[in-house]
Amino acid sequence: MVFFIALQSFLSKTKTKLVVFKKKKSRSSGDGGVDVLSDVPTTSSETIAASTTKDQKFQLREDGRKYHADEKVSYLFPSDDDEADRVHQQHWILRYALQRNYHAPVTQLLQQGITVLDSGCGPATWTLEMGETYPNSKFHGIDASSVFPETIKPANVEFCVANIAERIPFPDNTFDYIHQRLLILGLTNNDWENALKELYRVLKPGGYIEIVEPDMQDLCNMGPLLHKTQYTMSEMLLSRNMPPKIAIELQDRITRAGFVNIELQMTPLHLNHTDKAGYLLWGDYKHAYLNIRPVMAARNPEWQDVQVYEKYIDACGKEAETNKTCVNWYAYYAQKP
Ligand SMILES: C[S@@+](CC[C@H](N)C(=O)[O-])C[C@H]1O[C@@H](n2cnc3c(N)ncnc32)[C@H](O)[C@@H]1O
Repeated sequence: MVFFIALQSFLSKTKTKLVVFKKKKSRSSGDGGVDVLSDVPTTSSETIAASTTKDQKFQLREDGRKYHADEKVSYLFPSDDDEADRVHQQHWILRYALQRNYHAPVTQLLQQGITVLDSGCGPATWTLEMGETYPNSKFHGIDASSVFPETIKPANVEFCVANIAERIPFPDNTFDYIHQRLLILGLTNNDWENALKELYRVLKPGGYIEIVEPDMQDLCNMGPLLHKTQYTMSEMLLSRNMPPKIAIELQDRITRAGFVNIELQMTPLHLNHTDKAGYLLWGDYKHAYLNIRPVMAARNPEWQDVQVYEKYIDACGKEAETNKTCVNWYAYYAQKP
C-alpha cells in the first residue's frame, strides 16, 4: 500500500508519467531498457501472497526517527516510512534518468523464466516492478530491514530479512541473476568482502551479477559547497571503515571475488540542471542528505541545526545548477565462471 501511495504522490508532484507496464520500448537496443511511460500502474490480479519475515528490532534515536537496531548492520539511513518513500521515489527517478532498470544482458532469460535475487532490496520498488514485468521469472528480495511489502505483491516475488554480509539464506548456485543497488551507505570494507563472497556462492555458474553504485565523493564540475558536503560524507564513511569510492573500487573487488567477464557502464547523471531527470535527481539528493543529517552533523557541528543544514544543502543545489554538476553512476555486471 505504501508503495502505491508513494508512487501516486510522486507522480502527482512531478507530473511525470511513469508506468510499470509495457507499451513500447524506449530504446531500440540494449538490455534493461524500460517501457514507455504513459500511464499510472494498475495493481496485479495476483497481488496477495504470504511472505516470510522475522520480528525486527528498531531503535529510536535523538532525531526522533527509527533506525535498524542490529549492531552488525552499519546502515546509516533511518528505517522508517519517510525514508522508504524516498527510496521508492528514487527508483522511479533512476529509471527515468537511465531509461532502464538493469544493464546485464538478461532480458531474454527474464522473459523465459529465471531465478533472481535483489540484494538489499529496501522497499523493493525494483523487485516489484521486475516481478510484474517478467511473470515467468521468480524474484527474491532480501534486506536487513523488513521494509518491503509483507502481503501486497505479485505471486512471483518473495522477501526475507537477512544481513548480506553475514549469510544469504539460500543454497549454493541458486540464482541466475543477482541485482544489488545503492548499498554504499550500508556496508563496511569487511561487509563488502563478505557480501561479495556470499553473492558469488549463491550465483549459478554462468549467472550474472549486477552491482550499481554512484561515486559520492567526486562529482563532476563540483563547486566549493558541494565539495565540502561530499568530502564531509567521505570522511564520515572512512571513519566508519566504509569505502566512499566503492563505485570505483568495485572493478577490483568483483575480480578478487572470482567473477569474470566484468563490464562497466558509467553514466553521468545531471544534478539540478538541464532536464527533468536532473531536477528530480536533485530532489532525491536533498531528501537523502536531510535524512542522513545526524551522521553528517557528527562531523560538522554547525549542521546540528536543521535550518542551517537545510539552507546549506539548498545552496549546494543552486551551485550544482550553476556549475552543471553531475553524479557518476557506475553499473557493473559480471559472471560466475
Ligand atoms: C538505499 S536502500 C536501496 C534499496 C534498493 N536496492 C534500491 O535501489 O531501491 C539500501 C538498502 O540496503 C539495506 N541494507 C543495508 N545494509 C544491509 C545489509 N548488511 N544486509 C542487507 N541489507 C542491507 C538497507 O536496509 C536498505 O533497505
